[in-house]
Amino acid sequence: MKEDELELTNDSFLVSETDEEGIIRFANEQFCKYSEFPLNELIGKPHSIVRHKDIPASVFEDLWKTIQAGNIWRGFVKNSTKKGKYYWVYATIYPYTSCDGSKGYISCRKKASKEEIEKYANIYKNMLK
Ligand SMILES: Cc1cc2nc3c(=O)[nH]c(=O)nc-3n(C[C@H](O)[C@H](O)[C@H](O)COP(=O)(O)O)c2cc1C
Repeated sequence: MKEDELELTNDSFLVSETDEEGIIRFANEQFCKYSEFPLNELIGKPHSIVRHKDIPASVFEDLWKTIQAGNIWRGFVKNSTKKGKYYWVYATIYPYTSCDGSKGYISCRKKASKEEIEKYANIYKNMLK
């Protein structure tokens, strides 16, 4: 593990919800803990607040294309923390329409293994070349 990497515990479960534009409207306590942002600094902000430059733009293009088409997106993401550290997650993003007709997206994240992190760090590095 690198010095400024935060390692998720095995039972970590980081959740956030956005509106249709990707503006955060909910984050659970574990998302706040790992991102090092208090909840009031996340609500109302674009989800790119935790974006890490090592993830190619095409990954997010694929993410948005998938969820806007009403499908579930799954993938490995490296996120930045408020203090300039980072953490890897395996994310699953669900599009939803609630009973009042409003739409949004929910992301549920769990720990990625060391092997998965190494694999995707290399894939993304090559994509950025
Ligand atoms: C529900 C949901 C969760 C997201 N979670 C993350 C995330 O954890 N990290 C991230 O960098 N982008 C996340 N995104 C994608 C961002 O909205 C954004 O597309 C990405 O950070 C790239 O930002 P940019 O297009 O401003 O460069 C999420 C989007 C949605 C809809």
